[in-house]
Amino acid sequence: MSLIHYIESNGDEYEIELALDNSVMQSPAESTIDEILAECGGKCLCGTCHCYVDEDWVGRVGEASDAEKIMLEMVVDPQTNNRLSCQIVATKKVRRIGS
Ligand code: FES
Repeated sequence: MSLIHYIESNGDEYEIELALDNSVMQSPAESTIDEILAECGGKCLCGTCHCYVDEDWVGRVGEASDAEKIMLEMVVDPQTNNRLSCQIVATKKVRRIGS
């Protein structure tokens, strides 16, 4: 289980638990956050799940695929931390703390 912190463009914030192997777009976020439209259901075809990843997490969530990069070219207000939330998946990853 991962705890994801969402911030909508109006400043409303939510912390939502995300099950392993679910995308950041998937329920319960999809049903809780109005700005995640997810019209294609997570198939990387619509761009309506666009989000900005916190800079501290950009390197941890993995790189966008070529298909996702093509979709991201159509985003209004592109930034370096653009992603499609349907393409960011919670995985079980063990990370060493400290050196
Ligand atoms: S839900 Fe359509 S691109 Fe993510």
